[in-house]
Amino acid sequence: MFDLLIKNANLPDGACGVDIAIANGVFTAVEPAIDGDASVTIDAANRLVSPPFIDPHFHMDATLSLGTPRLNRSGTLLEGIALWGELKPRLTHEAVIERALRYCDLAVSQGLLSIRSHVDVCDDRLLAVEALLDVREKVKSYIDLQLVAFPQDGLYRSANAEANLLRALDLGVDIVGGIPHFERTMQAGAASVTRLCEIAAERGLRVDMHCDESDDPMSRHIETLAVETVRLGLHGRVAGSHLTSMHSMDNYYVSKLLPLIAEAQIHAIPNPLINMTLQGRHDTYPKRRGLTRIPEMLDAGINVALGQDCCMDPWYSLGNADMLSVAHMAIHAAQMTSPAQMARLFDAVTVHSAKAMGLDDYGIRKGNPAHCVVLQARDPIEAIRLSATRLTVIRHGRIISETGPRLARLTLEGRPETVDSAQYAPVEQAK
Ligand code: FE2
Repeated sequence: MFDLLIKNANLPDGACGVDIAIANGVFTAVEPAIDGDASVTIDAANRLVSPPFIDPHFHMDATLSLGTPRLNRSGTLLEGIALWGELKPRLTHEAVIERALRYCDLAVSQGLLSIRSHVDVCDDRLLAVEALLDVREKVKSYIDLQLVAFPQDGLYRSANAEANLLRALDLGVDIVGGIPHFERTMQAGAASVTRLCEIAAERGLRVDMHCDESDDPMSRHIETLAVETVRLGLHGRVAGSHLTSMHSMDNYYVSKLLPLIAEAQIHAIPNPLINMTLQGRHDTYPKRRGLTRIPEMLDAGINVALGQDCCMDPWYSLGNADMLSVAHMAIHAAQMTSPAQMARLFDAVTVHSAKAMGLDDYGIRKGNPAHCVVLQARDPIEAIRLSATRLTVIRHGRIISETGPRLARLTLEGRPETVDSAQYAPVEQAK
């Protein structure tokens, strides 16, 4: 007797029509045909059943604050940071929690069940830190929330930033963050990378650094991050987020840099939605895209995970917790249009992101926690193309969100009365 049985599921790896059995919150079998009774049976009807979406780069302390106290007029990263600085003194514990929980509701409905959020520690009150620690506890039954101690105003540029960062880690924040390109000088940026990696090594923590989020081809803190990762033996435990300066770097230099990143097993976390809007703002024409070199990093053996970064905050006025829209933007901005490349970008919001976050028991496999999403699409590429409806979201074997399929009700003679849009995609395109 199973708690839940999903019949006729297509899996992201291309397997078609398999059955998935769930009992006691874990996957107990994933096989071509499973017999047996279940309390709940779902016929996936050859729709895609994916492990949940994962966002490895987000700012939950700022989310849903758009317009408070004003809008970002220039659209730049620097005005966004200044605007966040205006908002910070007005934050209240209750308001941060309320916005974060509202965002988590949206995330669940989008099948987004693991989030790594940076939290600003450049506030002596550590108000946002304490609020998001509360949120991490409140949502743990339905979302894995990792927190990164993020010195938004610079480890060395902001008074008390290092002390506050250490206090945040003492309070239980999971990961060490940084922002070397915002320090006063390149030297100070490099020194901040070294210091922050040493803190992580001393405490046995991971690192996730905002790194080189700039159009300046000489912003090369990722090089220092790779070297310090190797020196301190942090291989596979460090992420470089954004890395946008790589877009503008000299090709010869990049040919040396990518093997260094691969050697350090650094996870790259581009954020295509926000960086397509923030970067190139000082250009006339032609305007740079300002997105990092995703296909080149993948080809170099680097784990590339995509993040959303922002949702209705001082930096970005859109966002909807839909990691498929993140992959969709990456396909366009990085010109990754072949079927194999598009499929890799689906992986970038699922398995690659799980790897970046260190989630070892992720995936639809016997023995893993039963987290999955039934989508109104047949395969990963179709899911991205259609921004597929998350029909059923399952966490620990329990249905935690349901959304009805997109159905057109037609009256044309000779046509079906009800059309499931996802069922009418040409098979050749979906493969
Ligand atoms: Fe960020």
